[in-house]
Amino acid sequence: TETLKVVNKQIEEFRNIVNDRDKELESIGLELAIGLSEVFEALKKISSGDPTVRIPDTSKVELISKLKHIVNLTAEEIGEIVDQSHEFAMGLAEHFDVLHKVSIGDLRARVAGKSQVELLESLKKVTNDTIKSISREINERKRAETGLQKAHYELEKRVEERTAELKAANKKMMQEIIERKRAEEALRDSEIRYRHVTEAAFEGVAVTERGTLIDFSEKLAKLFGYQRSDLIGKSIAELIAPNVRNETVAKILSGYSIPYESICLRKDGTTFPVEVCGKNYLSKGRELCVTAIRNITKRKRTEKVLQESEEKYKTLTENSLTGIFIHQDGRFVFLNDKFANMHGYKPEELLQKEHLSLVHPDERKILKEFAIKRIEGKPVPQQYEVRRLTKDGKTIWCEMMATVIEYKGKPAIMGNVIDTTQRRLAENAIKKSEEQLRALTTYLQRVGEIERTNIAREIHDELGQTLTVLKMDLAWLRKRLPDGQISLLEKTDTMSQLINKTIQTVKKISTDLRPVLLDDLGLAAAIEWQAEEFQKQTGIRCKITIEPKDITLDRDRNTAIFRIFQETLTNVARHAKASEVNASLKQRDGQIELRVQDNGRGITEGQISNPKSFGLIGIIERVKIFGGSSLMKGSPGKGTIMTVRIPIQDIRENQ
Ligand SMILES: Nc1ncnc2c1ncn2[C@@H]1O[C@H](COP(=O)(O)OP(=O)(O)OP(=O)(O)O)[C@@H](O)[C@H]1O
Ligand SMILES: [Mg+2]
Repeated sequence: TETLKVVNKQIEEFRNIVNDRDKELESIGLELAIGLSEVFEALKKISSGDPTVRIPDTSKVELISKLKHIVNLTAEEIGEIVDQSHEFAMGLAEHFDVLHKVSIGDLRARVAGKSQVELLESLKKVTNDTIKSISREINERKRAETGLQKAHYELEKRVEERTAELKAANKKMMQEIIERKRAEEALRDSEIRYRHVTEAAFEGVAVTERGTLIDFSEKLAKLFGYQRSDLIGKSIAELIAPNVRNETVAKILSGYSIPYESICLRKDGTTFPVEVCGKNYLSKGRELCVTAIRNITKRKRTEKVLQESEEKYKTLTENSLTGIFIHQDGRFVFLNDKFANMHGYKPEELLQKEHLSLVHPDERKILKEFAIKRIEGKPVPQQYEVRRLTKDGKTIWCEMMATVIEYKGKPAIMGNVIDTTQRRLAENAIKKSEEQLRALTTYLQRVGEIERTNIAREIHDELGQTLTVLKMDLAWLRKRLPDGQISLLEKTDTMSQLINKTIQTVKKISTDLRPVLLDDLGLAAAIEWQAEEFQKQTGIRCKITIEPKDITLDRDRNTAIFRIFQETLTNVARHAKASEVNASLKQRDGQIELRVQDNGRGITEGQISNPKSFGLIGIIERVKIFGGSSLMKGSPGKGTIMTVRIPIQDIRENQ
């Protein structure tokens, strides 16, 4: 544009010069023409040899018109050159002036010292000069025109170039504008995104400049209980609890970028714990700091709860009745005093010690296997009893319970241990005394049975025989009584009846003690007889099924089952208030099964487990001797079922 202006100015100047010259030339044109014709006229005359150049006959007007004509002719010849040269005009004007003076008879004009020839020469020279000057002028003019044209051309070229440049510049500018727009849009986008991000963040986000809030997220305002307008321009110090204010502000100002904890202050004066993380950055030459603030009240609370529970757990393990341990990679990483003490160690002696070193050598393999399986998630018994070793090499029995836990990010095994050595000893003692008692019971039962058998036989044989003899003797005596001895006869009759009754009683006593049937005809017969007896004596219907009919057992089993049957029927008669009994005796699957069911009131759980129910205990004990099982079950108002099963296989093998 600058160049364009300069060029335009130059053109304008050229144009003005040319215009001015044109006007000048035009104005002198007429004068020149007149002057010129006169000059030529005079010249003609002079050249024709008239030394006294005078034009007395010709009026001024005539002369002028003549001159005009000449000028016109000359003008045609000279063409446009004539009216274009100022200098030429001036030169001519000068001569015209002289000639004019001559023409009006002013001879002094001639006297000026110049001869005709000189004047002519001078005129020639002037004419030549003029022509040269005109040529020069024309050349100049032409050059000027060429220059002008060139300038025009150059100008146009420049304009073109400039236009092209401008176009390119325009294009570039457009591109720049587009890019700028794009950048602005991107900026706006990122601004929006930044807003969203800060608003979506869990934390409140603040931007500060030298400790003054210049921007922040809505969350932050909410977190501190302020309106947005209250918060802009606030010093960050006002948002920090007084007791930690100085150190926190110092940290923010120093651009401390590692997260740290502090305490913040709400508008309402309440405080809350926070985690803070800041970052300094430069924005348009301003040093800003963006700070994320997270409310950690909940976390703190959780931490407190955790700590409390940790303490609770610590107290619990420390005061536990059981030994507690954790081992990881085969070594103890945690244990309580109880655990150490039961093994005769101090707790610190056991940390990092191999856990298997406290296990009895015979149990190490299985425990190692358990630990591996447990960590692999395979099934392992939860609770088991093993032998362990104390510091002084003594074996202790322990009951253990173990489970896999995660300890410090890795699987570990946590266990509970109870020293059962004492309990085991006591249990063994009880077991032994139980066994002794059972043996004694068995012995007593057997002895009692033998005794009963003997007594039954004695009574039956001895008393029975004696009474029979006595009865026969009394019959003999009665026959020999003299006639008329009515009272004596009556006496013997009464005696005989008494003896008969006594014989019956003796028989009953001996049968009750031990039915001969049992030994003579076997269990099935004895049971059937007993059922009939029961029905006869109590009026309670008793149905009995025996399968197979020829059950043959050893004497001990015969006795046991018969006595159990007797006791059961006695109980029905005494307690059940039943009207019916269904019993079965079955031999199958290598065992003998006796089942007695009544339709009475039903035995209760309390009665079954009552330690004073000696009748029932007797049944259970008799069965146990043979490794059998017994089951009693009552349903209220519906009756009682008693079932016993005794294995018979081994007996047969033994026989
Ligand atoms: N068939 C039954 N129906 C209802 N109750 C029964 C039956 N059998 C036993 N009982 C209850 O069970 C209790 C225990 O029976 P158990 O035979 O042990 O003792 P008992 O018959 O009372 O005395 P004993 O020692 O003389 O046998 C009985 O007192 C009775 O209350
Ligand atoms: Mg009883």
